[in-house]
Amino acid sequence: MTGAAARVLVTGAASGVGAAIVDGLLDLGATVLAVDVVPVPATGRVGLASQICDVRDRDLVTRVVDEFAEQGGLTGLVTSAAVYGRDVRLDDLRPDDVEHVLGVNVLGTLWVAQAAMPHLRRTSGSAVCVGSVAGRMGSVLAGAHYAASKGAIHALVHTLAKTEIGHGVRINGVAPGPVATPMIEGRGYDTAMFPIGRYADPGEVADAVLYLLSPRASYVTGTILDVNGGLYVR
Ligand SMILES: NC(=O)c1ccc[n+]([C@@H]2O[C@H](COP(=O)([O-])OP(=O)(O)OC[C@H]3O[C@@H](n4cnc5c(N)ncnc54)[C@H](O)[C@@H]3O)[C@@H](O)[C@H]2O)c1
Repeated sequence: MTGAAARVLVTGAASGVGAAIVDGLLDLGATVLAVDVVPVPATGRVGLASQICDVRDRDLVTRVVDEFAEQGGLTGLVTSAAVYGRDVRLDDLRPDDVEHVLGVNVLGTLWVAQAAMPHLRRTSGSAVCVGSVAGRMGSVLAGAHYAASKGAIHALVHTLAKTEIGHGVRINGVAPGPVATPMIEGRGYDTAMFPIGRYADPGEVADAVLYLLSPRASYVTGTILDVNGGLYVR
């Protein structure tokens, strides 16, 4: 559901892809809870509420999700919160690198999905998790821990799609290629590396997410939709 009756929680909503998804949902008349570990810029847009929350904090995540759902239900979930971490090679990886990246990207997504699922089952809702082309083909420049975290997201989507469709909940993912957001700024990417010759605009990823959330995707579950400009084609 993406129209006026939709009530969607979006994580990582302060920036980049998450912020574009929030904008796209608001354009369609949805009510959105924008969640991020940093404050979500106040736009004054109708239908928008925000909440500071670290997705690693399982108790807080549960409280935030429950409170939003109790105000009128939860019909959709988008998990976009993630960190890139230090782009070090394997030999230089430290435990704190791995804990940080897997903690936010994998555990954070798991806790949000866990908290949201009982509510999504009540509304026959739908979730979209933001993965990455790195989870498909390995990193372009990011560390192995980032790629591993995104591969885990794809596996999570596949698993939850199977376990939740019997409860009426669809779970899908998107696997973006390089997107012009703060996450990869100054990380050494160059558009000459990409077949399409440019970065994705965050809105191009948001459009794929909006499709997967919408009734137009009513028979689609367990899909990871590539939005990568031809960087990786299977
Ligand atoms: N930018 C790219 O090239 C690219 C490519 C493929 C996939 N992705 C994925 O797209 C998604 C969005 O990334 P982006 O490019 O918009 O990056 P971004 O850095 O602009 O946005 C990520 C957001 O997540 C938030 N966040 C980080 N840690 C958090 C935590 N512990 N709890 C709650 N929120 C937290 C950040 O504050 C930020 O607002 C991520 O899942 C990322 O892995 C990005």
